[in-house]
Amino acid sequence: MFVFAKKADLAHHLAQIGNTKKTVGLVPTMGALHQGHLSLLSKSCSENDITVISIFVNPTQFNNQEDLEKYPRTIERDIEKVRSVSENILIFSPTVEDIYEGNTQSVAFNYDGLEFQMEGAHRPGHFDGVGTIVKKLFEIVKPTNAYFGEKDFQQLQIVRKLVKKHKIPVNIIGCPIHREASGLAMSSRNERLSEEAKEDASLIYKVLLDAKQKFSTKSAKEVTDFVTQTFAKHPAFTLEYFEIADETTLLTCKRKSVGKKYRGFIAVFINNIRLIDNIALN
Ligand code: PAJ
Repeated sequence: MFVFAKKADLAHHLAQIGNTKKTVGLVPTMGALHQGHLSLLSKSCSENDITVISIFVNPTQFNNQEDLEKYPRTIERDIEKVRSVSENILIFSPTVEDIYEGNTQSVAFNYDGLEFQMEGAHRPGHFDGVGTIVKKLFEIVKPTNAYFGEKDFQQLQIVRKLVKKHKIPVNIIGCPIHREASGLAMSSRNERLSEEAKEDASLIYKVLLDAKQKFSTKSAKEVTDFVTQTFAKHPAFTLEYFEIADETTLLTCKRKSVGKKYRGFIAVFINNIRLIDNIALN
């Protein structure tokens, strides 16, 4: 099992094992690994000669200092989880200094407006931080394929845009959302929920499924009102947003258009912990 703490060591190892003649899959993560992350890893292993997972809590994408400090860091457990998928996976777990070289700042990106919607509107600077780290990881690893979860659907679309605009030669592979038996989307943040809050949080997916069913006959506004009212009735939740948006432009659906694909996107607080989820509506 190889664990690299320095980008130069990883790059050297990749060159030694002949990465230019092989396919390389990259799975970027911030650790506190769960089955959702591992499903991306398994997919990468089955589709590439070499798989690299990065485990790095990227400071520039946090707009809330407390969230950054409280982000779970469980590297020893993470290594064991990676090992359970395959002994051959290369782990890249760098320090902030190794990645940012004394300049822990994000670059400003233009994602043609994708960055102003939903998560971008509520977490200023977040997608500049994501673009900064993802671009750096692509430059270090030079992957053939990179794996991102639909759990963070806006991030997935933003990474696709980044790669297109900067002409980075990598295929971006979107992977389905992995859920608990209760329907709760797996997330590193779930570790901070009490058992009771976890049970309550299963309401999120139930409401998304109801929204999907209603969307076949009702307008986007009616479905949005239904979701807003449902959460207003539950004191455990504070709804930040629910939006029905076009999958490609991420613009809010005002009126349904034939042939367009829509998704429902939600961000909700429970016990002060912010959870996000989304669902394909048609
Ligand atoms: P992180 O939240 O650790 O997620 C890493 C990857 O796992 C992301 O692509 C995310 O969408 C995916 N993922 C998380 N939960 C999932 C689930 N339940 N089912 C399927 N995939 C899931 O996203 C980030 O880290 C960071 O922003 C990163 C891209 C690593 C840049 O720092």
